[in-house]
Amino acid sequence: MEEQGYFYRDTWAEVDLDCISENVTSVKKHLPQQVSIIAVVKANAYGHGDVQIAETALAAGASFLAVAFMDEAIALRNKGIDAPILVLGATRPEDINMAAKFSITLTVFQKEWLEEAKKHLTTNQSVALHIKVDTGMGRIGVRSVEELHTIHRLIGEEKRLMLEGAYTHFATADELDQSYFQQQLELFETMIAALPERPKYVHSSNSAAAIRFPKAYFNAVRIGIAMYGLTPSLEMEKEIPFPIKEAFSLHSRLVHVKKLTKGDKVSYGATYESEEEEWIGTIPIGYADGWLRKLQGQEVLVAGERSPIVGRICMDQCMIRLPKYVPVGTTVTLIGKQEDQFISVNEIAQKLETINYEVPCIIANRVPRLYKKGGKIVDLKNDLLNNYQA
Ligand SMILES: Cc1ncc(COP(=O)(O)O)c(C=O)c1O
Repeated sequence: MEEQGYFYRDTWAEVDLDCISENVTSVKKHLPQQVSIIAVVKANAYGHGDVQIAETALAAGASFLAVAFMDEAIALRNKGIDAPILVLGATRPEDINMAAKFSITLTVFQKEWLEEAKKHLTTNQSVALHIKVDTGMGRIGVRSVEELHTIHRLIGEEKRLMLEGAYTHFATADELDQSYFQQQLELFETMIAALPERPKYVHSSNSAAAIRFPKAYFNAVRIGIAMYGLTPSLEMEKEIPFPIKEAFSLHSRLVHVKKLTKGDKVSYGATYESEEEEWIGTIPIGYADGWLRKLQGQEVLVAGERSPIVGRICMDQCMIRLPKYVPVGTTVTLIGKQEDQFISVNEIAQKLETINYEVPCIIANRVPRLYKKGGKIVDLKNDLLNNYQA
C-alpha cells in the first residue's frame, strides 16, 4: 500500500505535525513575548518521534529543546538538530566531555556531581549548565542556599563551565489545589534571589503551569504534553483557554475476517464464546506493540462504528467483534477519528487506569510512525535523509 511505503505490516501510528505546530503556536500566543519555549522531546518525543517533533516545534517558535538523557540529545545532534538541547536528567560526570563535543547543555543537580565532573573535564570546549533546584519534587536537585552558593562558586572557578540557567519542576501544577505549587514557587524565588547573578534562563513551568500560572513564567517554560495536544490532567482540562489538538493516532487493518457460530471460542484461555452468529476480525497488533492485555474489552473503530476487542489480547494480534461483515483490508482505528466517532488518548489511558502521558510512550518502536502535514502523509524519512545524511 502506497501510504505505508516503508514497512511491511498493517499497523501504524500517524503523527499530525500540523497539530504539533498549532499547539506550539497557541502556547506561544498565550505567553508574554519574552518567555521562551523549551520543547520537551524526551522519550522519542513522548513516543511521537524525536527529530520530527523537534523540527516542527522549532519552526513553530520553540527556541530550546529538552531531553531526559544525553543519548537522546546526541541522537538529535546526529539527525542534524543544532538548536540548544538541555539534558534534564542526571548525566554521568565522566561524560561531561561528550556534552562539550556535542554542545549539549547539562543539568547540575548536586555539588558532588559537579566536583566529580570537573575532575573529568579534559576538553578545551565549554559546557553550558543549568542548575536544578529541588523545591519539592524530591527527585534530583539542589536543596539548600548553601549548596547553591557552592555550586555557583565551583562553576565560576572553571572557565570552561558556563552557568546558563536555573530551574525547578512542580509536582502538582496540574491539580486544583494550588497550595503545594505555591510553596514550591516561593522556595524557587528565594533560591533564585540567593544566586549572586541571575542566569540567562530561569524556568519552572511544565505545560500545566505554563497554561495556568503567569507568575511562574520567569523567562522560559518547558512544554511537553500540551505540545502533543494532550491535557496535563483531567482536573484542569476546563482551564485550557485555547484548543489543543491531539497529534497521535493509531491504526491497523483487518487481516482476517470470519463468521463464528454460536458457542465458538476466541483466543488464549478460550474465555470468549460467541452468543450467536458473529463476525470476528483479526488485527495485527498486540501487547508487544504496547497494546496491553488490559485493553481487552476496549472498543476500536471500524467503518465508523465502535467494535469491542474480544478474548485475550495476544503478543502480536487481537480479535474484534464486527458490527457486520467487513472486508479484509479495512482500516481499524484504535486511537483517533473515524467519521463522527473519536477514541481519544484519554479514553485509552482511562481503560489502562493510567495517565495519557503513558499511552503514546508505550506504543512500541516496532509500530512505524507516519507523519502528516496538510492532511497528507509526508515522506519525511526521505526528506530527513536528504537534508541531513544522518
Ligand atoms: C523536568 C521536566 N520539565 C518539563 C516536563 C514537561 O512536562 P509536561 O509534559 O507536563 O509539559 C517534564 C516532563 O515530565 C519534566 O520532567
